[in-house]
Amino acid sequence: MRIAITPSSAQGSALAASIIVPLVSPGFRLGVATGSTPEGLYAQLRKAHAAGEFTLAGSRAWALDEYIGIDQDHPQRYRNVLKRELVGEDKTGLADADLHTPDGLSADPEESAKLYEESITPGLDLQILGLGADGHIGFNEPSGSLSAPTNVVTLAPQTRRDNARFFDGVEADVPKRAITQGLATIMTAKKIVLLAFGEQKAQAIQGVVEGPVSAFCPASILQYHQDVTVIVDDAAAGALKLADYYRETWDSAQV
Ligand code: F6R
Repeated sequence: MRIAITPSSAQGSALAASIIVPLVSPGFRLGVATGSTPEGLYAQLRKAHAAGEFTLAGSRAWALDEYIGIDQDHPQRYRNVLKRELVGEDKTGLADADLHTPDGLSADPEESAKLYEESITPGLDLQILGLGADGHIGFNEPSGSLSAPTNVVTLAPQTRRDNARFFDGVEADVPKRAITQGLATIMTAKKIVLLAFGEQKAQAIQGVVEGPVSAFCPASILQYHQDVTVIVDDAAAGALKLADYYRETWDSAQV
């Protein structure tokens, strides 16, 4: 893993954008996360698009996950979230038809998961990830399968508590189930950029970077991937035992 520790989330988002922008050209297959973590990165991508330095026109994007049963027009439906962030000439140039999200409204979510997996195969060029406080990526919650493809999951209680902030603080309104890219799906991406900001992510980041590979910390599977960049702010790096070493390693790779 390459580990970048930045003084602030804004600097972390700018760093992520500086990695992603030069890689994208028409035909690029980009994996996009939702949640609050990538918002700063998406703002940077919109800025680069407005400056004529970047476009997702002609590229395709795949969401990590989607809630099951959420209303088509609900603002927190991930398809709607990603449309607001990325779709259109006034955003990043991504076409609506080129944004792929799992069908959370299907009568057969298992079938939707299977079709979504097929659409991603053989894998994305780059996957952007956030990190749950319980170590999840996508909605792969603790003690699930380390080798699952896109599948139907039940959200962990901590995730529903954490995500209540997107549902006016009402935990009961957070959907209970989702379709998520599995850990095996995520691992097929050629390149992965994982972002985590804030002290509430510090223990999870320690598990991802320094813990054993374990289904209890699902993102620890990334230790087996050959091209992962972890970008954290000082607060999220707070529990890392070798933070100084990672800083030195990152700095020496930049010269
Ligand atoms: C979002 C996703 C989740 C989030 C994670 C962190 O598509 O799959 O894994 O990345 O729950 O959420 P935030 O960024 O809101 O802290």
